[in-house]
Amino acid sequence: MGGDGIGPEVTRQAVKVLRALEKKGLKLELSEHLVGGAAYDQLGHPLPEQTLEAARTADAILFGAEGGFQYETLPRGLRPGDALLSLRKELDLFANYRPVITFKELAGASSFKAHIIDNLDLLLIRELTSDLYFGEPRGVHIEQGMRVGINTMRYTEFEIARIVRAGFEAARMRNRRLCSVDKANVLESMELWRTVAEEVGQEYPDVELSHLYIDAAAMALARNPKQFDVIVTGNLFGDILSDEASMLTGSIGMLPSSSLNAKGKGLYEPVHGCAPDIAGQDIANPLGSILSVALLLRQGAHLPTAAISVENAVRRVLADGLRTADIFEPGCIRVGTEDMGDAVVNALLG
Ligand code: IPM
Ligand code: MG
Repeated sequence: MGGDGIGPEVTRQAVKVLRALEKKGLKLELSEHLVGGAAYDQLGHPLPEQTLEAARTADAILFGAEGGFQYETLPRGLRPGDALLSLRKELDLFANYRPVITFKELAGASSFKAHIIDNLDLLLIRELTSDLYFGEPRGVHIEQGMRVGINTMRYTEFEIARIVRAGFEAARMRNRRLCSVDKANVLESMELWRTVAEEVGQEYPDVELSHLYIDAAAMALARNPKQFDVIVTGNLFGDILSDEASMLTGSIGMLPSSSLNAKGKGLYEPVHGCAPDIAGQDIANPLGSILSVALLLRQGAHLPTAAISVENAVRRVLADGLRTADIFEPGCIRVGTEDMGDAVVNALLG
């Protein structure tokens, strides 16, 4: 599902990579579906029934991006972003993994000093199906002649426990440190978050659990990101922290993500948005989408070797000096979206 803006063009590159892997023996059944504004334009709904059905039956979903200025005044439910939110909710994709890994070749493209971010490898895990995004009551209504806007931060202990557990499980596979981020000093829902995180932590004595308030976490992430191994947090805080974290890597165009449900079914998408201002110009960075394919191979298809081969191919083209505009530095070779995709394919097959 390419979606809108730069979504289709970056997804096309990711599909090229999948097709290249097919040549190397990967078994693949691929179908394409309309989603977001593109689906609204053609079928009158951002998440048409056939797209939802295809998502339900697929083993994995590769998603581009959705949105566009022209849709922002549509009623809620018909806006492109609603398609992504509905997909997450309908498929119960509660665990969103956003690995933040710096490629040494891109150290200069980040606005952070090189020694702060070199060799950074942290994993941000964001809850994706609850919180202010879905809590009721919500909406805008009139009270005493005045408009009032309401959203509700709501978490059940079940929802907290399962995402925190995902954090512990991930930390176990890494450096065994989990930082849970909340706002327990002010918000009751977050007080519960912290309590449940502590309770689940009892099951994981081998993982060191720490807690930070979201404001302090935002600061710590910019000051010394390498102190983190795995971060687990709620939907809204995770949305904000992941954009901040993307800047550590040099460009949000580099970040992949996966969103899994309890059965391990996943939606794989770059963290970046639809970027309508650069859409269709062959300048967008497809690496976030291509690296999402690597996540799909690792987490969805359980093919770690294939995942590593894709990541290594990305590393190779970066080492060769190829750069899209967002990560370009003097002395490098500026390439467009298609050429970057082709270069990764060549590196993969070469
Ligand atoms: C993200 C995006 C989405 C979100 C938008 C497009 C609804 O910002 O995946 O981080 O807020 O979750
Ligand atoms: Mg976001």
